[in-house]
Amino acid sequence: MHLIPYPSGTVQLFNGICKLPDRITIKNEGFQDWSITAFLTRTGVQVGQSGFTVFLRRDDALPAEAYRLSIQPESITVTAQSERGVIWTLTTAVHLLRNGRLPCCEIEDRPRYPHRGVLLDCARHFFPVETVKRVVEGMSLVKLNVLHWHLSDDQGWRIESKRFPKLHEVSGAFYTQNEIQELVEYARNRGVEVVPELDMPGHTTGILAAYPAYSCTEKQVSLASTGGIYPTVLCPGKEETFHFLEELLDEIIPLFPGPRFHIGGDEAPKINWAVCPHCRARMQAEGLTELSDLQGYFTRRVQSILKKHGKQAICWNETLLAANAPEDVQIQYWTLQHRRAMEPFLRRGGQWIYSDMFELYLDYPYSMTSLKKVYHTIPHLGKAPCSQKDGLMGMECCIWTEHITDSKTLEQMLFPRAWAMAELCWSGTRSDRDFEERLSAMLSERLASAVHVAPKESWNPKGKSRRQESLAYYKNMNAGMSEDVRKQTVQSTNPNREFARSFMRKFFQVSDLPFLLGAMKKSKERI
Ligand code: ACM
Ligand code: ZN
Repeated sequence: MHLIPYPSGTVQLFNGICKLPDRITIKNEGFQDWSITAFLTRTGVQVGQSGFTVFLRRDDALPAEAYRLSIQPESITVTAQSERGVIWTLTTAVHLLRNGRLPCCEIEDRPRYPHRGVLLDCARHFFPVETVKRVVEGMSLVKLNVLHWHLSDDQGWRIESKRFPKLHEVSGAFYTQNEIQELVEYARNRGVEVVPELDMPGHTTGILAAYPAYSCTEKQVSLASTGGIYPTVLCPGKEETFHFLEELLDEIIPLFPGPRFHIGGDEAPKINWAVCPHCRARMQAEGLTELSDLQGYFTRRVQSILKKHGKQAICWNETLLAANAPEDVQIQYWTLQHRRAMEPFLRRGGQWIYSDMFELYLDYPYSMTSLKKVYHTIPHLGKAPCSQKDGLMGMECCIWTEHITDSKTLEQMLFPRAWAMAELCWSGTRSDRDFEERLSAMLSERLASAVHVAPKESWNPKGKSRRQESLAYYKNMNAGMSEDVRKQTVQSTNPNREFARSFMRKFFQVSDLPFLLGAMKKSKERI
């Protein structure tokens, strides 16, 4: 059966064919009507009086996203515990549909991990809501269930704010609140939770370009025009900063009805905090000895705003560098630079998401992170493989857009690599050949035309073209950055030996070394 992700449970094929008519009767045991919206849109089928019935049966004993699908000549029976379970059952049925016909079969299926996500960065470059919808559809087709929507950074703030309109006015390109609500509903109908990210206290030039009063220096800053790490960050010394954040979050949080909210926490330089009288006074008043603990204080204050709204906070793994980091945040792990801080968190039973940059950052070209590499990712911290018993909730691939400006490229960078991760998270890796056969079958369906997919010859580059593509990307990584930002970026990331070794091993081959060293010398760059 040509299914992606391949089911984790039993698959039984029977003799017989089910012809899906234009009109179907629905017998629904209490699921919300929106759980069949995507099925109707994808198939063009209408609901009405018909001899063909789709039964939606509730089984509360099933896990949240698990389902049973039974296809008979004159009916389809869906058994699930939740609306998401219904959506996934009917998504499987849509994959099986060829020329209006379905094979008679029974499938039992459930995911390995509850968190199967894609991070989409719409801050570095803005993408229209239609593109975001296409990404959501490309995710839902393979049962990916979390859109982590990165909506503010040094290059822009992307949400219409009625309370603080300068935020979106300064940035220019943004989503209106109506568009956000429309997207959230579109995603819900496809089983996808939207987790917004407002990155803070670092990566906040987008906010501070509009409201510089909430930085330490209060100097006017301009939006960043390149990637990198910028020194102007929110000031946790001033009480006004938290008043501003509370009013802002009180407005933004209700746009996103899901249970979680991402508050960033990555790459926050502390050079301004070190000399800011407000920050110094705060440290003294709170008995904080390290600047990193000032970030812990900041995280706790913002987390308390989220708690007021009943939201669970998610943070990047640098958050754990603070001795006073809150214990009840979910952690998104991306860089091994700070992996040691993960160890006590895991020992305490903390919940986390795996997004290792060497394996799941899909802004790197296929030559550096091939389809095969993604498909064989084994979540690990150091050498130790990790699984659910270590608090791992799942995986998320990330597409950062410093270097991606158009929707077609964005989608082709995501697909099919995100589909490979989807199978990993759902039922696990099978053979490359088996996966690619099912992928080819999926691409021959109308279904796959929902998104732009990278052409097959680019999935696993080899030989000279692989090396050329990787080196070209590497040389261009920091292009256009001012010397100050480049220095700040290298200083803040402060790559250690383990990072440098992994960078080399995961992105290049030994035979590339002389070429890589040459490129490094030319760009005066260190990894
Ligand atoms: C990150 O890549 N700075 C999360
Ligand atoms: Zn300050």
